[in-house]
Amino acid sequence: MCGIIGMVSKDDFTIQDAFKKLKKLEYRGYDSFGYFDKELLIKKTGHILIPKTKKLTRMAILHSRWATHGGVTDKNAHPHQSCDRNITIVHNGIIENYAELKNSLQKKGHRFSSETDSEVVAHYFEEKVKKKTMKQACVDFIKEIKGTFAILVMKNDDDCIYALKRDSPLVIGPSKRSNILASDIYAFSDLTDKAVFFDNDEFAVVDSEKYTFYNELGKPIKKTVQRFRWEQEESLKKKFKHYMIKEIMEEPIVVKRLLFSLKTEQKDNFERLIRLIKKQEKIVFVAAGTSYHASLLGVYYLHKCGVEAQALIASEFENFAFLDEKSLVIPISQSGETMDLIEALKYAKEHKAKIASVVNVPYSTIQRMSDVSLNIMAGQEICVAATKSFVNQVTILLSIAKEFGFKVNLDTLPTRIESVLGQKNKIKKIAKSISKKNDMYVLGRGLSYPVAREVALKIKEISYIHAEGMMGGELKHGTIALIEKGTPVISLISNKDHDMLSNTKEVEARGAKIIMITNSMPGDIRLQTSNDGKFGILATIFGQLLTYYIALERKLPIDKPRNLAKSVTVK
Ligand code: AGP
Ligand code: GLU
Repeated sequence: MCGIIGMVSKDDFTIQDAFKKLKKLEYRGYDSFGYFDKELLIKKTGHILIPKTKKLTRMAILHSRWATHGGVTDKNAHPHQSCDRNITIVHNGIIENYAELKNSLQKKGHRFSSETDSEVVAHYFEEKVKKKTMKQACVDFIKEIKGTFAILVMKNDDDCIYALKRDSPLVIGPSKRSNILASDIYAFSDLTDKAVFFDNDEFAVVDSEKYTFYNELGKPIKKTVQRFRWEQEESLKKKFKHYMIKEIMEEPIVVKRLLFSLKTEQKDNFERLIRLIKKQEKIVFVAAGTSYHASLLGVYYLHKCGVEAQALIASEFENFAFLDEKSLVIPISQSGETMDLIEALKYAKEHKAKIASVVNVPYSTIQRMSDVSLNIMAGQEICVAATKSFVNQVTILLSIAKEFGFKVNLDTLPTRIESVLGQKNKIKKIAKSISKKNDMYVLGRGLSYPVAREVALKIKEISYIHAEGMMGGELKHGTIALIEKGTPVISLISNKDHDMLSNTKEVEARGAKIIMITNSMPGDIRLQTSNDGKFGILATIFGQLLTYYIALERKLPIDKPRNLAKSVTVK
């Protein structure tokens, strides 16, 4: 969660310049925002508001927060300061031993003004610099702190920013007359194609001319400047009302781009991944949220080809994974920064498993932890709800399954997607008819079960309606008691699945309002494919559009839903 920015330049820059970079990271968390430049301190709840002032500066740190410790208040907004206001910090992550540190600092007379874990960092450095240099204080911090952090520290009498990293993402965008620190490359990809990525337990001293990296012992280390290529995709919404609908409409294009890349620039990595699947004895997908639903589809497709695989939810990975050097762990992640997955991959590495990742954000932490990695090529996905990234994740998984015999013609997928997008007016009508409901169910079987869960997640996170995605055969074992007259039940029926049909009749008999999504029989929405693999993708896109139109009816924020953030970089 949360986005952090640090800027230090030889030239004046405006507050607006700084805030525009923070705005690019707002999708990472938007409970509150903050700014500091040694003169002006801003700490405010709510979405980022760019100040009007023409004030100029040459150094600043900024933060957009997704709260973990302490409510969403102005006082808990970052930046946080020491008692003497000499130290100011922003933090992404969780300081796990903050309570004992806070207690010992309070005993030394420090007064805290927030409920957050992060504030302890400011007082920690204030105490340390009474007797030590900032560099020595950074070495101590890395040794003594438990937890995860990307931290930027400003000390009033120093013309540099101190930056420290463990698990939470941090990267420098270097250029001739300035250095930008950020949570990810989106913040400065319009300014430079160079990036220097922090590794764990490193810190750096960054000024307008140079940056010096140190390891956890305070020894200077050399770092590689990576050049990254990033589709300078118009991240403006242009004619679209929301990023969500823009990104759904991009799905045919990004699928085409991905399929082309698997035959060209990503061909070698794709073949390495296939060889690893063939060679390793155990295949374990690991993911969270929407990406987990994609990995469930991956398990299904491989199962259809006689390849055994399992999918585990990242936050429970250690409780269910048996791994060794013959295992292959496949993390699926849009952001490549999900902390639950990073923790799972640490566990996988401890057990000598191979890691082959499928991610969207290039050079992300998960990609850099992998033995081989494929990029889903969905481009920047700003809406918190994953839409085009899910479609491309599943497209890669179908491409993999094809190598093991799964029958699917992916070349027609873009046009099939367009056929769903072309039914948006019908979907809009369905959305209108159920937008006032408080509960609904989505039923699927086999390949459409993961789709049922994904559609339900979309409905919950974007239209704030309680929805359950379930196996059609499971409803009658209890949940069917909740079906009342008019309860909407979306039924995903691929190729006349007779069991799904019976499950649909069972709920219809109890008064449910049935919405049939089919491909080879009459239904409310007909999907133009007879292929199970493509049915899963097209049915999900129906669910994405349905959710979007319900949320429009309910006049909800859509791109930045309450309580959520795009990249969950805390456990
Ligand atoms: C996406 O709609 C969800 N908001 C969320 O569940 C997301 O899929 C999950 O947090 C995993 O994120 P990742 O793909 O970046 O790892
Ligand atoms: N744990 C810190 C807080 O709650 C930072 C949260 C984040 O990384 O968004 O303020």
